[in-house]
Amino acid sequence: MKILFAASEAYPLAKTGGLADVAASLPAALKRLRNDVRLILPAYPAAKERIEKPKTVASLELPGVHDTVQLIEGTLPDSSVRTYLVDIPSLFERPGGPYANTDGEDWSDNPARFAAFCRAVVAVAMDRAGLDWRPCLVHGNDWQTGLVAPLLSLEPIRPATIFTIHNLAYQGNYPWHVFNTLNLPGEWWNSEALEFYGNFSFMKGGLMFSDWLTTVSPTYSREIRTAEFGYGMEGVLSKRSDRLLGILNGVDNLTWNPVRDPALVKNYSIRNLKHKVRNKVALLEEFGLPVDREALLFAYVGRLAYQKGVDLILDILPELFDQPVQMVLLGSGDKGYEQRCRDLAAQYPEQFGVFIGYDEGKAHRVEAGADSFIMPSRYEPCGLNQIYSLRYGTVPIVRHTGGLADTVVDATPRAIMTRTATGFVFDDATPASLMGAIQRAITCFSRPPVWWRKLVVAGMETDFSWTVSARDYIALYKDALNDQGITPTDSEQGADAG
Ligand code: ADP
Ligand code: GLC
Repeated sequence: MKILFAASEAYPLAKTGGLADVAASLPAALKRLRNDVRLILPAYPAAKERIEKPKTVASLELPGVHDTVQLIEGTLPDSSVRTYLVDIPSLFERPGGPYANTDGEDWSDNPARFAAFCRAVVAVAMDRAGLDWRPCLVHGNDWQTGLVAPLLSLEPIRPATIFTIHNLAYQGNYPWHVFNTLNLPGEWWNSEALEFYGNFSFMKGGLMFSDWLTTVSPTYSREIRTAEFGYGMEGVLSKRSDRLLGILNGVDNLTWNPVRDPALVKNYSIRNLKHKVRNKVALLEEFGLPVDREALLFAYVGRLAYQKGVDLILDILPELFDQPVQMVLLGSGDKGYEQRCRDLAAQYPEQFGVFIGYDEGKAHRVEAGADSFIMPSRYEPCGLNQIYSLRYGTVPIVRHTGGLADTVVDATPRAIMTRTATGFVFDDATPASLMGAIQRAITCFSRPPVWWRKLVVAGMETDFSWTVSARDYIALYKDALNDQGITPTDSEQGADAG
């Protein structure tokens, strides 16, 4: 199949979170299954620097965009997935992140930036960019690609469309006057189209117009049909529930693998778990904590955001630190949480090590060196860190929601006996409920080591490789093509799956 995979970030070209990991590793997995999948994303400065073998292959004129748009073709490092960068200097050539400036404020022209990106995706999808390549299916991800399916719906003959929700809380909603600047059909200002409670919504465009919708775990796919998790989109999603599937994310076994991870001081596997301790010692030193091999070392890596329940962790730390345990935290985001982390680190210098910032290598070393990873998310579409923790033998403590519920098996006595338990799961997003799970972990850790080891080994043995999920996507792609009356072979001439 020829698939155009559109996303606003993909590791290592641009990354703010898990979407980047998925947008890199899913196309690579699809390619390994012999599909001609090509990735397309905006040409941020870092992406232009990091893409391999770049060459400008086409120029386009897009409605509402003053610059000539260039398409840079290259390959995604490590996977050789063919990648197009949409180069619009006035929109993407600037310092800061994909969505925000260096102070963390969203770019005010984000609607224009991502509307232009969507138009470029459509131009490539309709083979109007002179690439002589026509995908049978376009797979968009999150609100930044939300206009792709609506724009494609205007074409008499078009590829099939899939839209994946990675986080429903970020919707790209803007007022009428912004809609008015984007040269979109006036009839889309309609609750059956893009209008959403008096605004217009990129996300709603994706949800209403795509042939199929997916999200990144089965549990989240059910949760988002309810008011608690739907962020106002629950009605739309309930209506489209026959077209909504949850497919669990996988893990890139090359990037996240303790056996060969170059960021670690010592690689290890289930067979030589003793080397994990070397990573623990190095991690404690890296975070400036006294080395106590016996003390249970907890960790957190991730955005410091309300979604992640970081406040629950910070609330319980004083009580937790009454016990001989330590914790390291790597993250950035909400300035209030960042300050609370620094204050607590100053208060508990022997027990709490904090690094505020973004550091890929450190994230790997934390996964390898910690004993247990805490992830008390209020909602979690999939969550990758708990899966990385399982791979690295770092027992996760998670809230029973979204992908966390689908990936971690609670250590009930029975599950421990049957060697299926992989972590500790709790229900309520409250400090007390989190503390209860942490206490269970501490008790388990204090028993003869064989108990903890059972959890570690069961987690490391669980298979989260992409192959299974990629096959689910392929099955869905085939359904989508069937619905459209497209046979993949129609468009296979000139396919390049190699
Ligand atoms: P989300 O996408 O909601 O942020 P995920 O668990 O799906 O959460 O993915 C988070 C990804 O971002 C992981 O690859 C994680 O290692 C990485 N990450 C988050 N914060 C940091 C940080 N401060 N430094 C390095 N990596 C980070
Ligand atoms: C989002 C979600 C996270 C998910 C990631 C990749 O950022 O918050 O749960 O793992 O996307 O799908």
